[in-house]
Amino acid sequence: MVKICCIGAGYVGGPTMAMIAYKCPDIQVVVVDISASRINAWNSDRLPIFEPGLDDVVRSCRGVNLHFSSDVESHVADSDIVFVSVNTPTKTRGLGAGKAADLTYWESAARMIADVSTSDKIVVEKSTVPVTTAEAIEKILTHNNPGKHDFQILSNPEFLAEGTAVADLASPDRVLIGGRGDTEGGRKAIAALKAVYARWVLEDRILTMNLWSAELSKLAANALLAQRISSVNAMSALCEAMGANVSEVAYAVGKDSRIGPKFLSASVGFGGSCFQKDILNLVYICECNGLPEVANYWKQVVQINDYQKARFVQRVVSSMFNTVSGKRIAISGFAFKKDTGDTRETAAIDVCHGLLGDKAQLSIYDPQVTEEQMRRDLAMAKFDWDHPQHLVPSSPTAASGQVAVAWDAYAAAKGAHAVCVLTEWDEFKKLDYQRIYEGMEKPAFFFDGRNVVDVDALRKIGFIVYSVGKPLDPWIKDLPAAPLS
Ligand code: NAI
Repeated sequence: MVKICCIGAGYVGGPTMAMIAYKCPDIQVVVVDISASRINAWNSDRLPIFEPGLDDVVRSCRGVNLHFSSDVESHVADSDIVFVSVNTPTKTRGLGAGKAADLTYWESAARMIADVSTSDKIVVEKSTVPVTTAEAIEKILTHNNPGKHDFQILSNPEFLAEGTAVADLASPDRVLIGGRGDTEGGRKAIAALKAVYARWVLEDRILTMNLWSAELSKLAANALLAQRISSVNAMSALCEAMGANVSEVAYAVGKDSRIGPKFLSASVGFGGSCFQKDILNLVYICECNGLPEVANYWKQVVQINDYQKARFVQRVVSSMFNTVSGKRIAISGFAFKKDTGDTRETAAIDVCHGLLGDKAQLSIYDPQVTEEQMRRDLAMAKFDWDHPQHLVPSSPTAASGQVAVAWDAYAAAKGAHAVCVLTEWDEFKKLDYQRIYEGMEKPAFFFDGRNVVDVDALRKIGFIVYSVGKPLDPWIKDLPAAPLS
């Protein structure tokens, strides 16, 4: 029986391995992690991550051919295929700080594989890594285990999107396998991994290519996706200035079959653990390869995203008489998108920081994010979030007295001067806004950073409404906007 081990039981390692176990009952799958609490959670009734449909998949094979363990070394030692799905954060210090990928966790995993292996292995890069990482990993493995065992390195980047991970894994647009197709061992390794996916993925959706193309394809895909969001967000600023409606513009543009309708929703900005990190990494690779113009082109995608978040805060503050000091502001949604509890790089962090800087009192509600997580996020330094949590010092935020956490959207808005929607949770579309309005201070402001509410209906109730990229409320239009800091 083939044994697969995955190092890293996170948002990628957990669901990906659960799907392999689910689709391949004859393969033993063990997911290992240095975080004992994460492993305990995977073995409990409350999984460490929220993903629609994931509970059922895990429950159907956990304890049968799917196992979660913190005994990392012993499971790696005798596996045939080792996936590495550890964090690849942005470096916070040293050369390339703020841009380059920090491969500390990847390298230590590779050294451990070399140390403990008792058989030949296929080592699969699942993490998103800089181009040529496979080559570096190959050197670490072969130099630390000289002549004893054969290691074949494959790149198999993951394209799942949080919130739809189970559906994406069950029916992927494509599976990429990069390897050394020019060697006998490389070809065999590619075929072995392909055979795993071929149990449920159509043959023509499994693409094989060289290692570097596969590594770069992942960075390129994320860069292009994020670029679409920044493009429509840039357009949303122009729509507001011109009195156009970004939803109508995006709809018209998306009807062009060369462009297509997906990923054209204007918002307060993209978040998540990948887009910013991967683009910064791409920028760094371009700079290191003497391509400053290309680097600057991609840098703009992140800059527009930061601009969009700052612009949102500016709209809130300038609409409310240029001060939110001491005013209660309800934050509806803290996760970086709906259907996930993930808050990594969520736009909510930057927006909350902006409002806290202006001395607002925040009352935050999110259906999936715990109070502990919110407070931790607001207290953490930039990029620290992507390091294993036990390595990150936690300090109480200076603004902790300005933050309260509410149990629902009504409680959050009670007594508030404004509501800011920062995550597009479906429940925010169905709230009783008349009731919310009645419980708020007047004038009652509503800032929709995700275009989830019916603007006209809210204006009829009496709210002063701002919705990203939509024609401005006369109240807001007539106010001078404070300059962006
Ligand atoms: P994560 O932070 O949720 O999980 C990584 C896990 O690796 C953590 O639980 C950590 O404790 C563990 N770990 C770190 N070093 C270890 C070691 N030496 N031994 C054992 N365990 C170790 O990260 P996530 O989101 O799963 O991402 C992993 C990789 O996949 C990253 O490179 C990311 O860019 C990439 N990716 C993430 C996607 C996402 O939607 N989250 C989608 C596609 C790729």
